Amino acid sequence: MCIQKEVKEAFLAEGMEERFAMVSLSNRPDLCQYQSNGALAAAKQYKKAPMMIAEAVAARLAGKSMFSLAEAVKPGFINLKLSNEYLAGYLNGMMESGAFGFEKTKTPKKIVIDYGGPNVAKPLHVGHLRPAIIGESIKRIRRFAGDEVIGDVHLGDWGLPMGLIITELKKRQPELVYFQEDYQGEYPEEAPFTIAELEEIYPFASAYSKEHPEYLEEAHQATYLLQSGNRGYLALWNHILDVSVADLKRNYDNLNVTFDLWKKESDAQPYIPDMVEAMKRDGYAYISEGALVVDVKEETDTKEIPPCMILKSDGATLYNTTDLATIVERMKLFSPDEIIYVVDKRQELYFEQIFRCARKTGLVKKDTGLTFLGFGTMNGKDGKPFKTRSGGVMRLESLIAEINEAVYQKIMENRSMEEEQAREVAKKVGLAALKYGDLSNQASKDYIFDVDRFTSFEGETGPYLLYTIVRIKSILAKYREQKGEAKGQKILPACGQSELDLSLVLVRFSEMILAAYRENAPHKICQYVYELSNAFNKFYHENKILGEEEEKKQSSWISLLTLTGDILNCCIGLLGMEAPDKM
Ligand code: ARG
Repeated sequence: MCIQKEVKEAFLAEGMEERFAMVSLSNRPDLCQYQSNGALAAAKQYKKAPMMIAEAVAARLAGKSMFSLAEAVKPGFINLKLSNEYLAGYLNGMMESGAFGFEKTKTPKKIVIDYGGPNVAKPLHVGHLRPAIIGESIKRIRRFAGDEVIGDVHLGDWGLPMGLIITELKKRQPELVYFQEDYQGEYPEEAPFTIAELEEIYPFASAYSKEHPEYLEEAHQATYLLQSGNRGYLALWNHILDVSVADLKRNYDNLNVTFDLWKKESDAQPYIPDMVEAMKRDGYAYISEGALVVDVKEETDTKEIPPCMILKSDGATLYNTTDLATIVERMKLFSPDEIIYVVDKRQELYFEQIFRCARKTGLVKKDTGLTFLGFGTMNGKDGKPFKTRSGGVMRLESLIAEINEAVYQKIMENRSMEEEQAREVAKKVGLAALKYGDLSNQASKDYIFDVDRFTSFEGETGPYLLYTIVRIKSILAKYREQKGEAKGQKILPACGQSELDLSLVLVRFSEMILAAYRENAPHKICQYVYELSNAFNKFYHENKILGEEEEKKQSSWISLLTLTGDILNCCIGLLGMEAPDKM
């Protein structure tokens, strides 16, 4: 909307800088819809009475057909109301334009977004929920706004966990062909384990290695052999990958989360030797206490930023080395304008080191953005990281099953639906409950997981939003039954307060999306859809839409409903949710 533009022009016309022309939503909706407090600030700079400035600007605005009210009030505020005709015209424009009037960015960026971050052979647990759903939403928002986005799962498949699995397999099934040193033939296509076995083997081996140093040593040795290209171990590792990735994909599918790339930590390994060589050659990397490091502290630091370790004293690579080499790989393959990492905020210092090291050693271009989006922890009701009832780490599948069951029970309590259909609906509603419960918090904050609150059909929840969409769908379907296909009638100027209030929320769509895009902030969309649902439901309760006799008014309302439904659907799509037809 161009309120901002009009106000800017009015300030400029009064000879004042445009930075004073800020407009915000009114905090006194009973008096006005928008307000500008710029005259107060301008008064200081231009040494004039604020009221004089406000009056002059307001007089200019009052002449525009866009406003039904533009008045100066003491001590120098400018109160604004949009005219109902202007609002209706704007809504009609939204209906006709592809993205509801949102203008895609004129400077689209190419972005790699690193999210999900699962590790092979370990089942997804609740700690993997946030990176998956926050990353997915940011990917969708960025795409909607016009950026070219490549989502990469960045699978953890390298290092000790692989060695541990191989060691344990060797102990249990030493006769497997993978362990015969002189074996030259092809290895079997079928993996010698199922995902369930793999998921049992890894935690067992990991725990066992903590008590048995010689076993740990063996696992280190196996890791080393794998990384130096032992044929049998590589074949086993490929099985581990295949079995894990198939299972991960199934799990992410259930979350409505998809990746464009299934790149792995191992894919970055070939880039390491040249990268390390260059860091040494250019004098950035030096030996400190046996390890190869790069200093990354800066003069302006207020806290100690330790050097970034590149190689351990035994020459082994680390998580750091892989992340740096992954940057090299991404620059080479995609040359992105920005790489965004959606990772637990406890890794913030680590990424600060990585980013500084990458810049200092020239792995990225000067203007390549490196953005760390750290998310907070999902806590239980006790305020501590979420656990199962018995105190263990909860599998993501169990969490999803729990929330789906709670939703299913609610559906069955209140409605008559076939069991099978109710299960299908519960899946969509459960996912919305989970995602809204998470995404409605600013990503960097911790939040409390509360099944009862998240699955409630009332209040600020996913189910409430879906319920609103379902209500709109059902009114539109009934209308079609009675009167045939809606003809896309123009929306008329609002005649009642709740209709006006609904319009006022609708017209904020573009600026809301722009803020969510610029700030990588799905929670702004959550806030908006909640407000929009409330505004719609109020309108719905105050008006008999299907019973309205005045034909023109009714078809205008049907268009308003259609627009509301389309925008809600678009928004929940950006959050990675879907609405059922019934619930
Ligand atoms: N797999 C890692 C973990 O479990 C997360 C990976 C995050 N991304 C990255 N580029 N380091 O902690």
